[in-house]
Amino acid sequence: MAKKAHLLGFIQHGVNSHATGMWRHPKDKVGWNYARPEYWQHMARTMERGLFDAMFIADELAPYNTHANSSDPIVKYAVQFPTHEPSTIAPIITSATTHLGVGVTLSTAFEHPYSMCRRLSSLDHLSNGRIAWNIVSSYSKSEWEAYGAEMTDRGHRYERLDEYMELCYKLWNSWELDAIIADKESGVYADPSKVHEVVHEGTFFRSRGRHFVAPSPQGQPVLWQAGSSDRGRDFAAKHAEAIFAVLPTVARMRQYSDDLNTRVSERFNRPHGSVRLIYGVQTVVAETREEAQAKYERILACIPPEGALAWMSGHFGLDFSTFDLDDLIQDIEVPGIQGLFESILYARDGAPVTIRDAAIIYAQGMGMPVLVGTPADIADRLEEFMDDGGADGFMLIATYTPGCFEEFVDLVVPELQRRGRYRTEYPGTMLRENLLND
Ligand SMILES: Cc1cc2nc3c(=O)[nH]c(=O)nc-3n(C[C@H](O)[C@H](O)[C@H](O)COP(=O)(O)O)c2cc1C
Repeated sequence: MAKKAHLLGFIQHGVNSHATGMWRHPKDKVGWNYARPEYWQHMARTMERGLFDAMFIADELAPYNTHANSSDPIVKYAVQFPTHEPSTIAPIITSATTHLGVGVTLSTAFEHPYSMCRRLSSLDHLSNGRIAWNIVSSYSKSEWEAYGAEMTDRGHRYERLDEYMELCYKLWNSWELDAIIADKESGVYADPSKVHEVVHEGTFFRSRGRHFVAPSPQGQPVLWQAGSSDRGRDFAAKHAEAIFAVLPTVARMRQYSDDLNTRVSERFNRPHGSVRLIYGVQTVVAETREEAQAKYERILACIPPEGALAWMSGHFGLDFSTFDLDDLIQDIEVPGIQGLFESILYARDGAPVTIRDAAIIYAQGMGMPVLVGTPADIADRLEEFMDDGGADGFMLIATYTPGCFEEFVDLVVPELQRRGRYRTEYPGTMLRENLLND
């Protein structure tokens, strides 16, 4: 049986998502205000009409300021700016839908596991089991400066993250499922012997208390991760139920899929396939190739070069304003998001890429493969990514909203369904069920 695709919409709670300059596209948010519920409700209903697993909300905690030590170009060109808090829209999305999940990016850097678990359990209740947590630990210096803390290195962040998860699991598993009695006659609501106190004395965290929220429909949110360094992949293979990676070519996808699957089964003894591999793609679809190409060029024309460089500086933790734009990306090492840097390192199958070109490649869609064409062209490539690259599904980057998702749902989804490569109804109501089943 040919694998069926999973789909998610990749978005940010702000005026711009990940295609730099998207806000200025003539079709972006026409008649919609990104800061209002109606916009999110409409986008959620669109994704649910397309039987997507979830809307996936990225986040960072403060505007980037790596480029020339300033956030001016980030502010000036709306580079992932302004960005509102991501979990606030989860109930708006899930109350407008019945099946669509929400993946929320929440950083562990400045929040104690106790309140993180409480928040996520509450959201899982309110959505009737449709929440995923994209676990991040804040890679950008601007985030640490905004919180007045000293930035720690990657190794330290992953060590702390492991203990963070240990405490989260203790909290989520601390209630026995029959703890609530709710006997009005006797007045006993819950059996204290079944709501266990968690006592944690670790290297990074201490906690003593009962989880404040009754077990939620999924027990714990679906755990999602996008780390891609060696430590990051181990973390994903150990904890995640789904990963999000950006791999620019089929060959890179295959390598990543094989590597992660091997870590999952051999290093962490989990059943093969227990982590869904979701890869980013940028699609520009139209009835004809010419029309699609023209649409693609219109999207490219929105990119401000200085904003693009500032975005790369933010994601990769290097000040690209100090480089010659003709320097080659291949000669540079970055402290920031390794996995995304590789998307430009291998954008041309490993052939040299200048910083100038890399900025544009990156700014249009975070280094994701760009598929421009008819619904059949796009379905062909997605099939290839699944069959040869090992992808289980796709994170669709926003190019202008809500239009890009409407077009994908109206044009590409039916094509995938006709080919038997996409569901025709949701297999379940909770996010984990939909993610694990076709
Ligand atoms: C595709 C992708 C998407 C990511 N999205 C976010 C995000 O929204 N917020 C964030 O703080 N980090 C994000 N990250 C960063 C990772 O979660 C991770 O913290 C970072 O890559 C550093 O870990 P690594 O060195 O193992 O890659 C993303 C990374 C990738 C590869």
